[in-house]
Amino acid sequence: MRKLRTQVGIVGAGPAGLVLGELLARAGIDTVIVERHDRRAIEERIRAGVIEHWAAALLDELGLGARMRREGLVHHGIELRFEGRGHRIDFPSLTGGKGVVVYGQHEVVKDVVAARLSADRPLMFEVSDTRVEGLDTDHPTIRFVHEGEETELSCDFVAGCDGFHGVCRPAIPAGVLTAYERVYPFGWLGILAEAPPSSEELIYAWSERGFALASMRSPTISRLYVQCPPDDELATWPDARIWDELHRRLAMDGFSLTEGPVLQKSITAMRSFVVEPMQHGRLFLAGDAAHIVPPTGAKGMNLALADVLVLSRALSAFYGAGRTDLLEAYSATCLRRIWKAQRFSWWMTSMLHLFDGDGAFDRRRQLAELDYVTSSTAAATALAENYVGLPIG
Ligand code: FAD
Ligand code: DHB
Repeated sequence: MRKLRTQVGIVGAGPAGLVLGELLARAGIDTVIVERHDRRAIEERIRAGVIEHWAAALLDELGLGARMRREGLVHHGIELRFEGRGHRIDFPSLTGGKGVVVYGQHEVVKDVVAARLSADRPLMFEVSDTRVEGLDTDHPTIRFVHEGEETELSCDFVAGCDGFHGVCRPAIPAGVLTAYERVYPFGWLGILAEAPPSSEELIYAWSERGFALASMRSPTISRLYVQCPPDDELATWPDARIWDELHRRLAMDGFSLTEGPVLQKSITAMRSFVVEPMQHGRLFLAGDAAHIVPPTGAKGMNLALADVLVLSRALSAFYGAGRTDLLEAYSATCLRRIWKAQRFSWWMTSMLHLFDGDGAFDRRRQLAELDYVTSSTAAATALAENYVGLPIG
């Protein structure tokens, strides 16, 4: 058996694990990241696309923002479209000048992986049989198989950044965690298309047929979503049907949706999920390992980055000054912000989607909500400040 040692062992090379590695490196703290998939798989996984203003600044600060600033698109607003009309929410005037950057999560992953590998910081791909043990001791371990060899990584702390289906959360003994969950009766069918975006900003559309979202990845690539039944098979969604739904749901006088070859297609089920606390002994959960939001409002990756920023500050205070108070407060500090993002994502989802059994009353109520948000400065400010990102800690 191979035996390794580090200060912070990180399970998972998604945005949470990778950015935590960079934050800790800046503080002089050693990390080893273990990842189940190969490099190509994590760099090609198409997921979130909106980076909050503070998260973009954090990537800059870490020296990871150069390509994002070159290729990412700075957005100063979104459009809410309903009943054939578009209404713009202007971020800078409502948030003191803030905006977001539209840049794919997998591009962030590529940038951080490249930085980590070029600095020779350990990142082990294709590990299997990962287990975390000894959480109640001062030296928890991560055991795994890498290149055919059973490996034991002894750590001071373990960061569980292994996503919703990872092994870290289930390693916490029964009875410690409380889970809060809501499953939605729909999913999002998402496509990546080789087509120039049809609008300069993102369009969130309420329609009689259900929700649609027009987003983008670059001046030549569109990212588009339609609400669909959660258990639909992709086979029931040939390209022509997807474009037809997008045309109908986004319809507005003077608007035309540009089509192009579909490069990628997937269906994502939607849920809200939180576990409390986000820590047990020397294991700290971060990102999707601890919580999931429905994607309306684009909070998933941003929440993961907020968690690891809080965790890195707590670990820096521990190693720098022997302080344990920030580690003890980690879960409570993160959860205050997480619940606000849960509320926002649930609210955006509830306002824009067609729910099973929705009657005329609920649909009129949604339209009244949209009318209010797009006509009251106070309501628009609430949307804008949540969208660009609430303060951390
Ligand atoms: P992840 O990105 O899930 O990373 C976890 C990593 O841990 C993975 O690389 C995984 O392979 C690895 N891992 C898991 N188990 C193990 C193990 N046993 N050993 C070692 N490694 C392991 N958010 C939005 O805001 N907008 C969107 O449009 C959007 N679309 C999404 C589509 C899909 C299909 C999914 C799943 C999520 C989407 N999200 C979206 C959410 C957003 O992508 C996540 O919130 C974000 O990826 C969270 O980052 P993370 O690092 O916490 O977890
Ligand atoms: C994207 C995803 C979202 O969930 C969202 O609210 C906005 C944009 C995207 O993938 O581009």
